[in-house]
Amino acid sequence: MAGAVRLEPVDERNLESLLSVAAAEAEPGDVMPPVEAPAGWSLARREAFREFHRASFAGLDGPTRTRMYAILSGGEVVGMIRMSRCDEPGVAETGMWLGASARGQGLGAAALRELLNAAAAAGMRAVVADTTRDNAGAVQVLKKCGAKLLEDGDKVHAEICLDATPPAF
Ligand SMILES: CC(C)(COP(=O)(O)OP(=O)(O)OC[C@H]1O[C@@H](n2cnc3c(N)ncnc32)[C@H](O)[C@@H]1OP(=O)(O)O)[C@@H](O)C(=O)NCCC(=O)NCCS
Repeated sequence: MAGAVRLEPVDERNLESLLSVAAAEAEPGDVMPPVEAPAGWSLARREAFREFHRASFAGLDGPTRTRMYAILSGGEVVGMIRMSRCDEPGVAETGMWLGASARGQGLGAAALRELLNAAAAAGMRAVVADTTRDNAGAVQVLKKCGAKLLEDGDKVHAEICLDATPPAF
C-alpha cells in the first residue's frame, strides 16, 4: 500500500540501520544537533549520532523526555520521527526526517499520523512542531495532518489538536 509505514522505538537493534540511512541519504543538520567534528559523516559524527539517539532510549519519562521512532516502509528503515514532552502537560513536540529516496511518496504524512496515534495513546492532547516557511515538505505534511499554522516571519509554528486529527486513510 502506498504511504504505509510502521514505527518502531529506536533501540540498539535498529540504530545502525538508521545511521546507514542518515549517512547515505541525509544531511547531518537535518538529523542531529551540531557537533564539533570534521565535516560530513566522519567517524566522530557517526558516534555522536549513536549517542544522541541512545540518550533517548528511556523514552518520554527518561532524561530527554523524548521517544524516538524508526520509520519503516516495506520492512526497511527509511527515517526517524520523535515526540518530546513539552513543559505544558499533555503537549508533545515532534520532528522528523526521511532519507532522500523515501521523500515525496506520502511516507512523511503517514509517519506523522502514526506518531499522533502514539501521542494520543501516551495521554497527549496536542502535538506541536516548529519549522520554517521554506520547508514546503514539512509545512504540507503538517497541514495534511490537520495542523493549525501560526506564521511569524520565516518561522512556522504548527499545532495539532488530537481530538481534531483527520482519520488515517
Ligand atoms: C519534511 C519531510 C519529512 C516530508 O516528508 P515526505 O514524505 O517527503 O512528504 P509527503 O510525501 O508525505 O508529502 C506530503 C505533502 O507535502 C508535499 N511535499 C512534500 N515535499 C515537498 C516539497 N519539497 N515541496 C513542496 N511540497 C512538498 C507533497 O506533495 C504532499 O502534498 P500532497 O499530498 O498534496 O501531494 C521530508 O521531506 C524530509 O525528511 N525532509 C528533510 C528533513 C526535514 O526537513 N524535516 C522537517 C524538519 S521541520
